Amino acid sequence: MKGIILAGGLGSRLAPLTRITNKHLLPVYDKPMIYYPIETLINAGITDIMIVTGGNHAGDFLRLMGNGKDFGLKHLNYTYQEGEGGIADALSLAEYFADGESICVVLGDNIIERNIIKAVRDFEEQKRGAKIMLKEVPDPERFGVAEITDGRLVNIIEKPKNPRSNLAVIGIYLYDATVFDIVKTLKPSERGELEITDVNNAYVGNGTMTWEMLEGWWTDAGTFESLLRASMLVSQTGANNVAPGEKL
Ligand code: DAU
Repeated sequence: MKGIILAGGLGSRLAPLTRITNKHLLPVYDKPMIYYPIETLINAGITDIMIVTGGNHAGDFLRLMGNGKDFGLKHLNYTYQEGEGGIADALSLAEYFADGESICVVLGDNIIERNIIKAVRDFEEQKRGAKIMLKEVPDPERFGVAEITDGRLVNIIEKPKNPRSNLAVIGIYLYDATVFDIVKTLKPSERGELEITDVNNAYVGNGTMTWEMLEGWWTDAGTFESLLRASMLVSQTGANNVAPGEKL
């Protein structure tokens, strides 16, 4: 399985911090934000990784991480997203890299306390379709929200005004190779972006989407409140923790 980290976008919700650097290079406690999703993939045994970035500061990713020596990697792949066409637009740039394999996609501003080893293993057995992870949150209107009926995932709604559940779809997604065909069918949403929620609903619609609850805390870090919360959570427990015997 290959890993893709989406770290494009303009980070406008964090202006003026993002005027002089990319959001994913800002500090979360003692490391740049982008370090956390890289560790999330490596902890799941995924070491063939591409970073999709964009904006005016993309070169700083290379200066910071080079070939990934800090993570014990020999090589990191990079690509560049023109503009801010949305999460699914950023993902489309990784088709050549994925080369027909399954992929694990992590949003560059998502940080987790523990790991996704179980979900990755389960998805390897599932073989086709997709898998998402859900987490109970107090503010579901900020996220993609899952509607579950009788234990079945029936729909995902992006940032609903009146959420039907408190189950946020976290920014870690497992997809088979058909994801790139799905992206090609998408139309921009009202906010002018190709939405990852539309990709996920395509899998829900064809009956090949599965889901799991994420254990441990999860946060994004794309607003001032969540950036502060991310630093506090990481300072308290650390992120990407692996229990003994849990490594792939
Ligand atoms: O954090 C999880 C949530 O992320 C999900 O629950 C939502 O369904 C999903 O749409 C997304 O919501 P946000 O509105 O918070 O996403 P945001 O625009 O902040 O983008 C998240 C990351 O995706 C960002 O850190 C970098 C990457 N991205 C985003 C855009 C818009 C790109 O690489 N390119 C882009 O054009």
